[in-house]
Amino acid sequence: MKVLVYQGVGRKTVEERPIPTITSPTDAIVKMIKTTICGTDLHILKGDVPTCTPGRILGHEGIGIVEQVGSGVTSIHPSDYVLISCITADGTCEYCRRGMYSHCIHGGWIFGNQIDGTQAEYVRIPYADTSLYKLSENIDEDAFVLLSDILPTGFECGILNGKVQPGNTVAIVGAGPIGLATLLTAQLYSPAEIIMIDTDDHRLELSKCLGATTTINNHDGRAAETLMKITKSRGVDTAIEAVGVPDTFILCENIVAAGGIIANIGVHGVKVELHLERLWSHNITITTRLVDTVTTPMLLKLVKSKKINLNLLISHHFKLDQILKAYETFGNAASTNALTH
Ligand SMILES: NC(=O)c1ccc[n+]([C@@H]2O[C@H](COP(=O)([O-])OP(=O)(O)OC[C@H]3O[C@@H](n4cnc5c(N)ncnc54)[C@H](O)[C@@H]3O)[C@@H](O)[C@H]2O)c1
Ligand SMILES: [Zn+2]
Repeated sequence: MKVLVYQGVGRKTVEERPIPTITSPTDAIVKMIKTTICGTDLHILKGDVPTCTPGRILGHEGIGIVEQVGSGVTSIHPSDYVLISCITADGTCEYCRRGMYSHCIHGGWIFGNQIDGTQAEYVRIPYADTSLYKLSENIDEDAFVLLSDILPTGFECGILNGKVQPGNTVAIVGAGPIGLATLLTAQLYSPAEIIMIDTDDHRLELSKCLGATTTINNHDGRAAETLMKITKSRGVDTAIEAVGVPDTFILCENIVAAGGIIANIGVHGVKVELHLERLWSHNITITTRLVDTVTTPMLLKLVKSKKINLNLLISHHFKLDQILKAYETFGNAASTNALTH
C-alpha cells in the first residue's frame, strides 16, 4: 500500500509498505476513504514532536471502511463506515474512566506519532471498540474527516477550557482549521464579540463569513495594540492560542482581561516566556489540553443535524499519491489559500 513517511526534520517520502495486520484481539484494520493534514503534522516536520521518530507513517485523522476486526472487538464489524478518532482509548484505564482519553495509559495521541497513522491506504486501529465511531453510509465524507481532531480540538481545548459564556468577548489567535473550528463552536455559547487574529487576509475574510465580529491582521506583530484599542484597554475574557509559537502565546498574555482565561491549543516546540511580573495580580487562568475527543459523539450530532456547517473549511482535494503536493499546498497556505484537504 502507499503511505506517507516522516523521514526526520523537514523530510517526508511516499513509500510502499505492507498492509497492516491484526496484532491484538482488540484491533481493527480500516481501509481509508479520506484523511487530512493537520497543523500538528507540520509541527512534526519542524521537529517539534520528539516522540515521532523517522520511519513513522504520519496522519491521525480520517474516515474509512472496516476491513477486518480482531476476536475481541464486539461493537464494530467488517463493512462498517467509521470515523477514526485521533485519540486512541482503551476505555478502561484510570484516565479513560475520568474521560481524559488523551492520557489513556495504552493509547492517547499515538496515530502518526508513536504508531503508524492514517496517511496510508490502510491503518491498524488498536482498541477499535472505544476508538472508532460508526457513521451511517450516506455520510458527507468531507465534513466528517474534520471530526477526527479539528472540531473536538477547537471545542474542547478552546471553548470548553476557555469557559466561553453568553455575552463574553473572545479572541482566537490563529485562523487555521483549528482556529476556524474554534470560531464555529464558540457560537454555540453566544459570545458578544469574537475577534479573529491571523497574518493571512484570506483566512481572516473567511473568518468573517463564519461568524467573527472583528478581524485583526497581525503581519506587523501589533495585534495586541489594535485589540486593546478596540476593547478600550479592557482586553478579552477568553484568549485562545491556536498557532503554537511563542509570539502568539505572549500575544494572549497581552490581551487577556482581568479575571480572564488563556486557553492554549497550539502544539509548542520551544519554551515561552510567562510574564508573571505583570499577570500575578490579574486573576487569570491558563489552561492547556491535548484534545480528549470526549465530545465527539455530541459534535457528530451537531454536524449531522447541520447545526454546525464545516463545508467552508474544506478547500482542496487530493488523491493519496498526490500527498506531497497536498503538504506543499497546506504548508504554503498564504499563497494557496489552503485550509484542509
Ligand atoms: N492541543 C491539541 O490537542 C491540538 C490538536 C490539534 C492541533 N493542535 C495545534 O493547533 C495549532 C493550530 O493548528 P492548525 O491546523 O489550525 O494550524 P495552521 O498552521 O493551519 O494554522 C495556524 C495559523 O496561525 C497563523 N499564524 C502564524 N503566525 C501567526 C502570528 N504571529 N500571528 C497571528 N497568526 C499567526 C497562520 O497564518 C495560520 O493561519 C497547531 O499548533 C496544531 O499543532 C493542537
Ligand atoms: Zn485508557
